[in-house]
Formats: sequence, structure tokens, C-alpha cells
Amino acid sequence: TVAHLHAREILDSRGNPTVEVELTDSKGQVFLAAVPSGASTGDMEACELRDGDKSRYGGKGVLAAVANVTDKILPAIKGMTTEDIASIDHTMLELDGTKFKTNLGANAILGVSMAVCRAGAASCGEPLYQHINHLAGSPTMIMPVPCFNVINGGVHAGNFLAPQEFFLIPLGAPTFREALRMGAETYHVLKSLIAKKYGIESTAVGDEGGFAPNISTVEEAMDLLVEAIDIAGYTGHIYVGSDPAASEWYNKETDSYNFDFKRPLDQQDPSKVMKKEEVVKFWEEIKNKYPLKLLEDPFQDLDFEGHALMTAAIGEDIEIVGDDLYCTNVEFVRKGVDLQATNAMLLKVNQIGTITESLKAFKMCQDNQWGVFVSHRSGETTDDFIADLTVGLGTGHLKTGAPCRGERLAKYNELLRIEERTGLGYAGYEFRNSGHF
Ligand code: PGA
Ligand code: ZN
Repeated sequence: TVAHLHAREILDSRGNPTVEVELTDSKGQVFLAAVPSGASTGDMEACELRDGDKSRYGGKGVLAAVANVTDKILPAIKGMTTEDIASIDHTMLELDGTKFKTNLGANAILGVSMAVCRAGAASCGEPLYQHINHLAGSPTMIMPVPCFNVINGGVHAGNFLAPQEFFLIPLGAPTFREALRMGAETYHVLKSLIAKKYGIESTAVGDEGGFAPNISTVEEAMDLLVEAIDIAGYTGHIYVGSDPAASEWYNKETDSYNFDFKRPLDQQDPSKVMKKEEVVKFWEEIKNKYPLKLLEDPFQDLDFEGHALMTAAIGEDIEIVGDDLYCTNVEFVRKGVDLQATNAMLLKVNQIGTITESLKAFKMCQDNQWGVFVSHRSGETTDDFIADLTVGLGTGHLKTGAPCRGERLAKYNELLRIEERTGLGYAGYEFRNSGHF
């Protein structure tokens, strides 16, 4: 049972404060959990409670959330069994009483929920991935395809590239371990290529460990990826994907997308401003030209209809993932299913704020034969919870940045350990069959 909770303000990978929770159970065992933080956040995400006191961390302090853990959550859940996370999460939701967790803060609630999940696993005497698997109704477990975000743009990088992320997707690897090796080798080839073409100053990395060369078009990014894959010797084995995170460059007045939004106004190319139908055509052409397998958030986060157009056009060949569109919220996913807006959901636990609600969103996808793509945030810690989450749910793929930067490798390296201990098979080309292997 929960004997004690302690929380503290620690720093994330961008040097911003975040919440760490320390749970002590009745046997005296201690369990830690740290909460991540996004930059390109969806409008409907649960509340990340920040102090707003400009004299500390530019207003980004989380002392109020930290205090909520000890002063409000602890008295409500003390003595409850950690094996029953559903009851503990429910108690926290009741205590908060708001739709977006604005009262206690989703950062306070999620830290506790993750720590409870770890404590529950220990109490049941099973590894975390196994415990999550039981909580989720025992979907088939499998090692995920790691989708490496190796070229960064959008709000994650200081170049003129509008789309936020470009992935290497090693579907043709025999194991997770080999997928990691293929990804890392290609990453290093990409680094030399970028140095040669754009200068050594272009090999600095963005928030998720990918390079942020001085390029501005999707084609330039795709050409770089394809050339690196070829030189590394993995053509036909490593595929590519993208998360444009298009909400960040949507113009509401004109209902259009500006692929040149990062350039100074007087230097922007007007032909780069596209209407919905043109965006569909654009990605369809990219799909025909490059080995594209996954596309996330091609439209702004309220545009179910636009996403449905994209899914109808290319959804058979390409996994179309909704991130900001759903915010890991089962209500929005249900709407997406009804409208056939996408064929997959991005799963970020801090968008919704509890593990129990995250599992509900997962189930909705599983029941509708949708893919589930587990994800880190651009602001991360070394907490490796999502490694166990992706294996336990059998989601078949995850993204947690480039094979670079400690907070990203914490997850990939934990997956190496899980594969070694379990001998689980690798999802590979079946990566879209989340929960159904
Ligand atoms: P974020 O980026 O963590 O900044 O939201 C990740 C994503 O958009 O998928
Ligand atoms: Zn995204």
C-alpha cells in the first residue's frame, strides 16, 4: 500500500523544471517517477501546472504541483493498495474534479500514477512491462520498432524547416538490438553527409537529438535520409516517416498551411502556402517518391475532416497518426474512429495525466484495429517508463528521439535490456498491428 509520497522539482532535458515523485510503500520500498514536458502541445492536453512566478525559472517552476502531491494527493490515497492503480487514479480524478486536471495539475497526478504503477509491479512481483500488460488485459507483447527522429525542424530546432520530425524506421531488422544498431550507424552516416553538404555547424542537434541542418524543404530532408540509408547499406530495410506537427504552422484566417513559416516574412515563398487538399496531394507525392511509412499530425489539432481526407487518400500504405488531434484522450479517439480521421493514435501519458486513462485510449485503438505509437516528449528526463509501456502494450513501435542524448538513450537502452531478458520477437513490418500480434 501507499505509505508515503514525496515530490521535488527537478530539471528536464531543456533545463526547465518538472515534477519527480518518490513513493514509499508499506514495505519501505521506494519508487521514483519523473514527468516529461512537450513544446508543440495540443490544445486539449491536460494541464501542466506551472507557478507563473517570473522570479523563478522564468515562471516555469512547479512548486505548486510538488506541494499538491504531498498536501492533497497523499492524504487521499494513503493506505490504498498499489496493485489497484485504477482505484488510485480514480481517487485523484475525483479529488481534482476538473476536465483538464487544472486543480492539482496533470504533472502532479501523472508523477503519482507512474510511481504507483512501478510500486504495483513490485508488489505483484513482476517486471513493469509485465504489470502493464496485465493491467491492459494481456495484449500480445512484442519488441517495438524504434522510430528515430534524426532530422529536427518546427519548434524543436533553429532552422527554416517547417515539419518538426523526420524518422528512420528500421522495419527490416531481425531484432530490436539490430534495429538500434542500424539506426545508430545510419545516424552517423547522416552526420557526415550533413557536415559535407551544409558545413560542420549544421551537425548541432535539436531537442530530440536529431540534426537541424540549414534546410527548408521536406524533399531536402527526405533526400538526406534516403542517401544516408543507402550509404549505410540499409536500402529496403530502413524506411522513413515524418511528424510535421502542423498545428504549429496553421493559419486560421486563411485555413491554410505555410511550409515556409520559419523564414522572415519578406523572404517567404507564397507557393509554399497550401490548402488542405494541396497538403494531401503533397504528401501523396512524397509517398510515391520516398519509402514513407508513417505520417503524424499532417493537419492542425482540431481538423478531423482534413485528417480523414489524408487517411482516405494514403492510409492504406501509410500509418496516419493523430497526436495533438487526440491528446491520448479516449473521447477524442472515439470521435476519430467514428470519422475515420486516422488509423493510429500517438500515446503520450502526460497528455492525459494518468496511466489508467492512457490504457483506456489504448484499448479503444486496439478494439478498432488502430495502430498505437508510444512517444516521449521533447522535454524529457532519464525516466524510462515508456520503454516498459510500449512492450507491455505490444504497440509495435515507439518514438523516443535520435540515438543520441542521454534522456533519449535511457529508453532505447532499457528496451535492449527488456529484449535480452524476455527474448520477445521484433514487430518489424507488422508494426501497425498494435495489441494484435
Ligand atoms: P512535443 O513533440 O513533445 O514537443 O509535443 C513531440 C510530438 O509532437 O510528437
Ligand atoms: Zn507529434
